[in-house]
Amino acid sequence: MIDRMIRADAVIIGGGVAGLATALATPGDVVLVSKSDFGHGGSTEWAQGGVAVALAADDSPQLHASDTLRVGLGINDQQAVQVLTSEGPRRVQELIRHGARFDRNAKGDLSFGREAGHGLHRIVHANGDATGAEIMRAMSAAVALRSNVTVHDQTYAFELVLDSGRIVGAVAVGPEGEIIQYVTPSVVLATGGIGRLYSRTTNPVEVTGAGLAMAARVGARLIDLEFVQFHPTALVSDLDPMPLLTEALRGAGAVLVDDQGSRFMAAIHRDAELAPRDIVARATWSLLEAGRSVYLDASEAVGSEFPDRFPTVFAAAQRAGLDPRVEPLPVSPAAHYHMGGVGVDLFGRSSIPGLWVVGEAAATGVHGANRLASNSLLEGLVFGARAASSVTGSLLPAPRVVPAIPSPIVDAPGAVREVRSLMWDRVGIVRDDSGLSCAIDRLDQLSRHLTSGSGEAADMVLAARLIAISARSRAESRGAHFRRDFPATGQPERRAFDAPDLATVA
Ligand code: FAD
Ligand code: SIN
Repeated sequence: MIDRMIRADAVIIGGGVAGLATALATPGDVVLVSKSDFGHGGSTEWAQGGVAVALAADDSPQLHASDTLRVGLGINDQQAVQVLTSEGPRRVQELIRHGARFDRNAKGDLSFGREAGHGLHRIVHANGDATGAEIMRAMSAAVALRSNVTVHDQTYAFELVLDSGRIVGAVAVGPEGEIIQYVTPSVVLATGGIGRLYSRTTNPVEVTGAGLAMAARVGARLIDLEFVQFHPTALVSDLDPMPLLTEALRGAGAVLVDDQGSRFMAAIHRDAELAPRDIVARATWSLLEAGRSVYLDASEAVGSEFPDRFPTVFAAAQRAGLDPRVEPLPVSPAAHYHMGGVGVDLFGRSSIPGLWVVGEAAATGVHGANRLASNSLLEGLVFGARAASSVTGSLLPAPRVVPAIPSPIVDAPGAVREVRSLMWDRVGIVRDDSGLSCAIDRLDQLSRHLTSGSGEAADMVLAARLIAISARSRAESRGAHFRRDFPATGQPERRAFDAPDLATVA
């Protein structure tokens, strides 16, 4: 039963960097729906290292593009990379005009950090390692001033409404449990990634793959789902999510050491600790799997400056009873970012008319098999603005009301726990056919139990199942997708599920 019906020119689902960037540039009556409080929730607020952007005097969009392509290992969409790196500087300047305050040097110029895979210092950051919080503060304040944007927060979207092959709305559950149907010709999914599908993750609780699941249920094209990025340095403690130890620490000279205190990355890659993220994550994981421990040691490189330069990480370490000024921090890789997602063109248009997808939920193709550090906030800014221009260009009359029949919301904490450990154990950093098949069989069983309902658990099972199926079907190793049974890299190819039949897709 629908309790409220709301009409709008556009509905944006998700209030992180991508949703806010879209909201800032979309005219007409816009509703921004977010399951968290407005201005909070999602990965954006937690971003540490910063935004990669070609603004330094010795940099250029071409150099930024070539680093992005090198790390992406042959399956980036080259046009999308050109768009990202050439439009990035303008979008970051715009963000500064919206009031974002990035760190500056003594002369008042932007201060650029360095992260893995970048050929030079290119990362703008705020308050040391609290970049995401500053971006959320500035962008949500700017959106709050837009009289055409209405915010519905604490509202969980769980279904898209399809009529004659196009999207005509979405259904959500509001803060009082009321069911809301949005009637609109334009829905923009900005729901973020899938990190919570894994028991070890840096991602906050909101990041559950809901956008991927909703888009899959209406038959949207999904691309490169097997590419899940594991960040090499999450702090080992009893905290969930695992606190991130930003890559900027390694950029500042922090080193990875094993339980004998010996550095091991220099023997594996010429860039040592600043090798591409997948390589550092696998090297770290192979030691942990062998029963060893791994530590990030910043005591020499950063030492007493730690609280000023990296206040977020310092606070997390202190919460875990550790002092990074003088001791190494125990680390593990953790699920961090989804390179794959809902396939979109250069303007965020999915394969279903009326459905746009932006930010981490989208597969624009900019990241290939391995995202270059700090390219994701930039992607949200650039492609959010592009999607807004496309929504504007295709503003349509309000569609006729197609009554949605919402399925009951199912809360299944046991299933969620099981999905998370299954994904870490079988669809994690090192994969093989038997582990993937075992995960798919179990996810099939879980999905049969949840088919009659909607909500977070059902979305998580579906998103996990689609990722596991994609991982099994890519019989090669490339970037973040490593197959023990197919260690070689084959021909570069992006892979799509077109209008997946969810009952038979395995
Ligand atoms: P998010 O910021 O995750 O926002 C998703 C939004 O969707 C939230 O508002 C959430 O409440 C809402 N939502 C989700 N599901 C629903 C639903 N069903 N109904 C309604 N609302 C919903 N990238 C960088 O480029 N630089 C960095 O320094 C960096 N550091 C990072 C540090 C950490 C700890 C993490 C976790 C990630 C980091 N990343 C970084 C990655 C980057 O932060 C994310 O990829 C990016 O912020 C994603 O933005 P988004 O707008 O797509 O999604
Ligand atoms: C980090 O600060 O290490 C995270 C950067 C990113 O994920 O882009």
